[in-house]
Amino acid sequence: MPESRRQIDLATRSPEFLRSPLHAFARARAECPVGWSQADGSWMVCTYDDVYQVLRQHETYSSESYVNRNEGPPLLVLGQDPPIHTKYRRLLNPWLSPGIAERLAPKMEEYSQGLLDRLVPRGECDIVIEYGNPFPALVVLDLVGLPTNEWERFAEPNHALQYAKPGSPQMEEAQTGMMWIAGQIYETAAKRREDPADDLISDLATARVDGELIPLEDVVGITLTVVGGGVDTTTSLYANVLIHLNRNPDDRQRLIDDPSLIPTAGEEFLRHFTPAQILSRQAISDTELAGQSIAKGEYVDVCIASANHDEQVFPAADEIILDRFPNRHAAFGLGIHRCVGSNVARAMIQLMIRHTLERMPDFDVIEDQAQHYGGPIVNGWITLPIRFTPSRPRGTAPLPV
Ligand code: HEM
Repeated sequence: MPESRRQIDLATRSPEFLRSPLHAFARARAECPVGWSQADGSWMVCTYDDVYQVLRQHETYSSESYVNRNEGPPLLVLGQDPPIHTKYRRLLNPWLSPGIAERLAPKMEEYSQGLLDRLVPRGECDIVIEYGNPFPALVVLDLVGLPTNEWERFAEPNHALQYAKPGSPQMEEAQTGMMWIAGQIYETAAKRREDPADDLISDLATARVDGELIPLEDVVGITLTVVGGGVDTTTSLYANVLIHLNRNPDDRQRLIDDPSLIPTAGEEFLRHFTPAQILSRQAISDTELAGQSIAKGEYVDVCIASANHDEQVFPAADEIILDRFPNRHAAFGLGIHRCVGSNVARAMIQLMIRHTLERMPDFDVIEDQAQHYGGPIVNGWITLPIRFTPSRPRGTAPLPV
């Protein structure tokens, strides 16, 4: 390793980092915005400008790092470069376009109100386990064309992958769960190739790329990315929003009094909590960034949570300003891999905040019983118990679960 490379003191699995990632990122931005982390075996990129450069230069920084570094089944689209990335991503666009939020609105309303109907008479619940997890899972599985009554088996391994310790029995269980999911997707795709329905998986199973049906293994890889991308991030964001509103009654009251603020507030929550904190890349050729020489094949960790707190771009970056404008955050990534599910994600998080404030406006988070993921990548919560004044269910249509 060349001696001249700047070393960065940012071990993303160390207790110091996990206790306060934002603090660690702030120090890194001030002292060493691009540096080599010996503990992580990768370059760490921390300022907004440098993050922007890496994510925009897909010819230099490959996304295949996700496949090369990951022990689970390959996550296609996310872990691919052009030209194949472009061809596969094109198949997803029509299913996740801006119009999708409107198309999904009645289903989303039904799932969300149905889940809340079960909770509101009780006056207490675990809002992550009983609402934050199932709601996005139901919406995404419905869109993809996978069985909503099995939502837990599709969602849980995706959550556990983020919080289980590498090498632990819990991680092994999560990986076995991912293999089950891959098997289910394969079987469904094979059936839909013969007998298509009106869903994303049927579209993928019957799509032709360069005149050929795409291999069923690739349909599995693409669908795994959509399900994984869809079920974990929105849940994580929602849990952080509830904790913030619990600690900041003025913000809670402002959103109750003026729900038209929820879309802008949603963007600010995305910026501040950045559910996927660090993205992964790998140098395709020798290159240079911020005066550092990066060698071909080296991994580059792109810290979008750090970019989203860069004071050069976001004044008072550590504060949550519900009507912050402009707010060009990087929480959905940037460049060709920018989140294709962002329209669905925005619709889901806005609806979840609105319904929670309508139906449990005085919720109180029991923070000392809440459990954080505790890993470096996703900023999420495993459990979040709350109490609130009970109310009557509205009698929404029965849920499929
Ligand atoms: C708050 C919610 C969400 C956040 C913060 C989020 C974040 C991200 C980020 C940062 C990326 C870029 C990764 C990279 O460049 O390495 C990404 C990609 C992706 N996301 Fe999301 N996501 C969210 C919700 C969703 C939803 C609901 C879906 C599906 C319905 C989804 C599907 C995907 C897919 C398929 C990709 C890969 C796109 C590509 O590589 O071209 N995401 N997401």
